[in-house]
Amino acid sequence: MSVQIGAISATLSSFLSQHDYSHIAVIVDEKTQKHCLPLIQSLLPKTFTKIVIKSGEEQKTLATCEKIWQAMTQANMDRHGLIINLGGGVIGDMGGFCASTYKRGIDFIQIPTTLLAQVDASVGGKLGIDFHGLKNHIGVFQLPKTVLIDPTFIQTLPDRQKRSGFAEIIKHCLIRDAAKWDTIASLDFDQVDLADLIAHSVEIKKAVVAEDPKEKGLRKILNFGHTLGHAVETYLLGLGKRAVLHGEAIAVGMITEAYLAYQRNLIEAEELEAIEAMLFATYGRIQIKAEEIPAIIQLTAQDKKNKGSEIRFSLLTGIGDCGYDIPVSKAEMKKALEYYIG
Ligand code: GLY
Repeated sequence: MSVQIGAISATLSSFLSQHDYSHIAVIVDEKTQKHCLPLIQSLLPKTFTKIVIKSGEEQKTLATCEKIWQAMTQANMDRHGLIINLGGGVIGDMGGFCASTYKRGIDFIQIPTTLLAQVDASVGGKLGIDFHGLKNHIGVFQLPKTVLIDPTFIQTLPDRQKRSGFAEIIKHCLIRDAAKWDTIASLDFDQVDLADLIAHSVEIKKAVVAEDPKEKGLRKILNFGHTLGHAVETYLLGLGKRAVLHGEAIAVGMITEAYLAYQRNLIEAEELEAIEAMLFATYGRIQIKAEEIPAIIQLTAQDKKNKGSEIRFSLLTGIGDCGYDIPVSKAEMKKALEYYIG
């Protein structure tokens, strides 16, 4: 899996000079069109096609895919073309899905422009769209030709967006690197070295995905915090006004799932306390009402790690270690969400 971290002017021109594509299309949203496309436009052939979609998770649908496939068809793209996904997780996942299915699949590269996409979504070849309110319900595994990460892209992101991406960095430390966890847990968010942490997260993710590309086993540890986290995210997205960012929901997921691990004697009380202290300090406590818990738990039934009616979690087995395929009952989930509510 090719991932390069560095100035986009150098990495993209080097990539393009080594390949001979019949046509290039760049997928952007209104934000990356304004802030990021100008940084790469001079490196592209003058004939490139710009495909603009609206930003936001609610655009990650089959209807938007149709527009992208239509634009690719109108540009007469053949199988020797290249799609460049210039954006966050939505563009990367959906643009990659469109490229992988167009004429049975053409090359694509990821240029992630958010912290979340740089440390997680762009690496590992998970592609897809949401479907009838269910996140990433339809999709494929397909690796991009390369991922080009320029840490300077994130300098202008709003603080809230950066904190959201930081949740995946925290996750990578908790599941694989106790020493790095100790470092970040002792710092405030505005003191951490994000460029260093991006490289660290990419290394962890690459190593896990290399061992288990299609998530048959080990890769499930990357879903720590995501079973209840996704359910909270999906539930609040459905309410509209109380929608939270992905990383904010994953913070809820990491606290509740650390509590589940503690209840199973997989981690010590001090470890749970350290995890929740750090996450509450960084993300606050997201409002979840007691009467909403059943609906949130109901959503875990659609989690992609489940087998039959068994809801299976990836739970910490210590800070820096994580197990997977651990069945958890609805009663345990309820207790964990009640613990979070306080
Ligand atoms: N975001 C988790 C994974 O890519 O497996």
